[in-house]
Amino acid sequence: MFKISLMDFSNLEEAYKIELEANPSPWSKDNFFSSFEVGHNSIVCKEDKKIIGFLIFSLIKKESHLLNIAVLEDWQRRGSGQMLMDTFIKQSKVLGADKIYLEVRSKNLKAINFYKKYKFVKDAIRSNYYTGNNPDDAVLMSLDI
Ligand SMILES: CC(C)(COP(=O)(O)OP(=O)(O)OC[C@H]1O[C@@H](n2cnc3c(N)ncnc32)[C@H](O)[C@@H]1OP(=O)(O)O)[C@@H](O)C(=O)NCCC(=O)NCCS
Repeated sequence: MFKISLMDFSNLEEAYKIELEANPSPWSKDNFFSSFEVGHNSIVCKEDKKIIGFLIFSLIKKESHLLNIAVLEDWQRRGSGQMLMDTFIKQSKVLGADKIYLEVRSKNLKAINFYKKYKFVKDAIRSNYYTGNNPDDAVLMSLDI
């Protein structure tokens, strides 16, 4: 059975492995670790003691920003992304947010479908936002909560 808990420092290495495995454009290790150190809100989904997914967000006044979410490939499509998202939405509301914002690669249809399930709407496209080996546009999405 899946269990959601706060990410702690000892979870970071394991969570970063998920980031490398699952994310089409993973954060650098430095960015991943410093996101935790600067106090972004981070939660993990565990199956027994194994971390199978995580979600990172930051809250500025009434705006909650989904910064990162990933689930190990072997565990995808089994509901853990949904548990992370449900917890994130609840926590955002409790902390006073009334809107969630995120950005996603336009080619990342898996994630876009996932967000659509939650009724996120597309607000804008930022052309050529992602550069490097895997260039792409960014889709900006939001959800009233
Ligand atoms: C996006 C992600 C976190 C979803 O996690 P998950 O555990 O697979 O999601 P769930 O099993 O809870 O799926 C919830 C719903 O999302 C949608 N969804 C998830 N994966 C999908 C896919 N591959 N194709 C179409 N819809 C999908 C479905 O509506 C699904 O509900 P259903 O299974 O009842 O049809 C996961 O695919 C992932 O880690 N992707 C790689 C990292 C990434 O791209 N992160 C986003 C960066 S912006």
